[in-house]
Amino acid sequence: MSTESKTFGVKKPSFYIKIYGCQMNVYDSRMVASLFEWEGLEETDNPEDADIIVINTCSVREHAEQRALGRISDLQKLRREKPELVLVVIGCMAERLGDKIPGADFFIGPKSYDKLPEITRKIVKGKCQISNFQFPKGCIPYPNPGRGVTAFLPVMRGCNNFCSYCIVPYVRGNAVSRKPDDVLSELRYLREKGVKEITLLGQSVNEYNFGEISFPELLRMIDREALGIRIRFLTSHPACMSDNLIDAIAECDSVCENIHLPIQSGSDRILKMMERRYTVDGYRYWVQRLRERIKNIALTTDIMVGFPTETEEDFEETLKIVREVRFDFAYMFMYSERKGTKAALFLDDVLLGVKKERLERLIELQNSITREKNEELLGREVEILIEGESRRDNLPTGKTRTGKKIIVKMQNAKVGKYVNVYVESISGWTGIGRARKRKNKRG
Ligand code: 5AD
Ligand code: SF4
Repeated sequence: MSTESKTFGVKKPSFYIKIYGCQMNVYDSRMVASLFEWEGLEETDNPEDADIIVINTCSVREHAEQRALGRISDLQKLRREKPELVLVVIGCMAERLGDKIPGADFFIGPKSYDKLPEITRKIVKGKCQISNFQFPKGCIPYPNPGRGVTAFLPVMRGCNNFCSYCIVPYVRGNAVSRKPDDVLSELRYLREKGVKEITLLGQSVNEYNFGEISFPELLRMIDREALGIRIRFLTSHPACMSDNLIDAIAECDSVCENIHLPIQSGSDRILKMMERRYTVDGYRYWVQRLRERIKNIALTTDIMVGFPTETEEDFEETLKIVREVRFDFAYMFMYSERKGTKAALFLDDVLLGVKKERLERLIELQNSITREKNEELLGREVEILIEGESRRDNLPTGKTRTGKKIIVKMQNAKVGKYVNVYVESISGWTGIGRARKRKNKRG
């Protein structure tokens, strides 16, 4: 449907963005929001008020796709009542399915994001005055972090790994690392905006490579410019770990003691079928090296159950490594067949009931470990970056360098400030404590 004839009323046109999926989608949504704002539109958190609705989608699992399709279908009523409404689908589903998705006006997948400035102008044409500014080809303004003190910063896009179950390399394309100068200039921009914690993003971030600069070197360059900003990074691939990276985490003050290292399975046979390029022993080795070199490092992971041919024995090996490593936290999933991937050629033979039962057992085990790990904070002093307020009693909340949530019993703690906290109790998974005078900066 052409949107060119659609017109809006007198009020400033507005847009609403709904995000599904990963941190990269959060960043990309901010990028789209900034482009709309550049053209004079304002963001609303109520879809019913919006002149443009953007749905940023995820294709990693069937369930995520179903949720987005459900939302798009629900929006058709609003679309009928308000014919001038423009519905835009972006993200991995837009790449994978495009206009096979019914009921939207525009489809923009990640492989076309370099054309977003031109496309956003097409979307807003006729709704507001288009700015005269010409962005240089392929150049998009850095997303405005607003008043937030945390931000994402992609250092690379796409992935070349082709793990057999994963749709990402197909929908996000080949791995492309950003120029270090560009990364540093976005970091300075965020610093000037008052951001205090930056999470570097990449589908397989420790594979970053630009000319001579590999990821550990990039971390060192970033550390020199961080000046009081905390740095985290996501997601590391176990097959691309190195002592150089562990040294960089240990040596760079800004880099938090925190790594996300998906293990996926505890069975070598399954890891091989997943084409993950490491063994359980290989994974163990890096955990040991990380823990030897970086005191109190928090280790988080992704785990999948019910991959094709997974037996009860394979699954028990997963439980075994989970018990042994004792992850601080894990994202846990049931395998979901993705058309076009290599694993889709294997028979998806683990029954749904069995997948569900394995996932439940895994979650129960991991949750008890996460609880015990959080209890280790009791009686310790940790550094918190204040990010907001607790919902229940409006007390300042923040995270430790290891990513654990803490509520501070104090008034007037400013968002963006670092506070040292003595942890007195734990409620659910959240630590509660009192502020202490700041002596050390680690915790
Ligand atoms: N089915 C289930 N989980 C998947 N993931 C990726 N692809 C699939 C799939 N087809 C999980 C992996 C990955 C995380 C982002 O999502 O655990 O690390
Ligand atoms: Fe997917 Fe593997 Fe690339 Fe991660 S490393 S995005 S799981 S293909």
